[in-house]
Amino acid sequence: MEKKIVIDGGKKLYGEVSISGAKNAVLKLIAAALLVEDVCLIHNVPDLSDVETMVDLINSLGAKTKYSKLSQTIEIDARDITNHVADYAYVSKMRASFNVLGALLSRCGESKVALPGGCAIGERRVDFHIKGLQLLGADVNIENGYVIAKSRKLKGADISLAIPSVGATENLMLASIFADGVTRIQNAAQEPEIVDLANFLNMAGADINGAGTPEITINGVARGSLKGIEYSTIPDRIEAASYACAVCAAGGEIVVRDIIPAHLTFFINKMCEIGVKIDAVDPYSLRIKKDKRLKATDLITQPYPGFHTDMQAPVMSVLALADGTSVITESLFENRFMQVPELRRMGADIQQENSRAVIKGVEFLTGTEVKASDLRAGAAMVIAALAARGKSSISNIHHIDRGYEKIEEKFSQLGANIKRVEINENLSDNQIVNSKVLS
Ligand code: UD1
Repeated sequence: MEKKIVIDGGKKLYGEVSISGAKNAVLKLIAAALLVEDVCLIHNVPDLSDVETMVDLINSLGAKTKYSKLSQTIEIDARDITNHVADYAYVSKMRASFNVLGALLSRCGESKVALPGGCAIGERRVDFHIKGLQLLGADVNIENGYVIAKSRKLKGADISLAIPSVGATENLMLASIFADGVTRIQNAAQEPEIVDLANFLNMAGADINGAGTPEITINGVARGSLKGIEYSTIPDRIEAASYACAVCAAGGEIVVRDIIPAHLTFFINKMCEIGVKIDAVDPYSLRIKKDKRLKATDLITQPYPGFHTDMQAPVMSVLALADGTSVITESLFENRFMQVPELRRMGADIQQENSRAVIKGVEFLTGTEVKASDLRAGAAMVIAALAARGKSSISNIHHIDRGYEKIEEKFSQLGANIKRVEINENLSDNQIVNSKVLS
């Protein structure tokens, strides 16, 4: 039965929240485990539907997995990979499945992975992935909606990315681990998730240098030489920023625990600039306090270390309530303002023109029925609903479940009135809001 998140907003948030492992890191670590002809144990694995999809995908390739949600671990035994085809059923559910392309090619000498279509947030092409594999010597063709890559032995090459694409950097790193000689990825993405992937692979025996800088060098090692390891995923900086945004919108004071503050530098500086009080509690925790109306500001999304596109929608919910006019420019994806019409339904004053959104801060938002149009737009809805006066119901929450572990539980611990309710088709949204949230 369909479910919605129902929030009775307008309550300040207080308390502590522990941040889960990073979705965008762990999905790539699972793909990387395909290169290891041994058993790997990954810790700090968040309980998310995207992780389930990735586990199902590698199981379909012949890996044997034990995924324990209780201990937040996955054990992956990739000694026998019996299939090199990633079916459309997985890739259509989750784009990050495309990352097995490079891993399967280097492990099996052949890979066939469904071509991801466009997705909610934009066209999201894969041309850099394909060109990079060709430069490594692979024969790459697109047939019947699948990318088919073949190569008996890849050869190290110099690859320069036109844009520092996260997915292409990761796919090409995975592809070149066993290539002959040296691969250099120039204009590489510098995200913390890239560094996490390189650390995982290096611990297993790969030879990668420069991850976290614009030039990554991979010295090929022998196929079959990687060893099983135990590894802990980095914390999810986007989840951390989303909880911080919730307190910036609703007010109050929370401590965000189990994070790496250095991964959030741009976000922290911006929030401090608009009036949020942020201080370190210890090396892995930040106290976030909002005790007065925040100031408007301008932002442009950019590759790391710039302002993260995945934090754009949550921050828009904060700026919708700020004093003055803010401008957000989205420079990475064509269609990443899907929260705008929903925020307007809550009383926000936002005008969108192509890649620019002009946000005139209002004094308050009002609760209503809204939908999560994609993962981060969904987070923006939760944040706005927590701050809004009255009750909101959020539909399409499967998007939110892709990236936020136990979201109702975590916000309830901070004092929010938030519930997941089953939808009775005979009730209108208004009745759902009025009847169940108070139960
Ligand atoms: C990853 C993240 C996503 C984040 C994004 C940018 C995962 C699972 N997802 O997505 O949450 O928003 O990084 O930080 O980690 N591009 C091309 N051709 C290509 C590849 C990319 O034109 O072959 C373009 C894209 O359309 C986009 C830009 O490059 O405009 C950046 O995309 P990319 O960094 O590749 O994003 P993803 O890896 O898909």
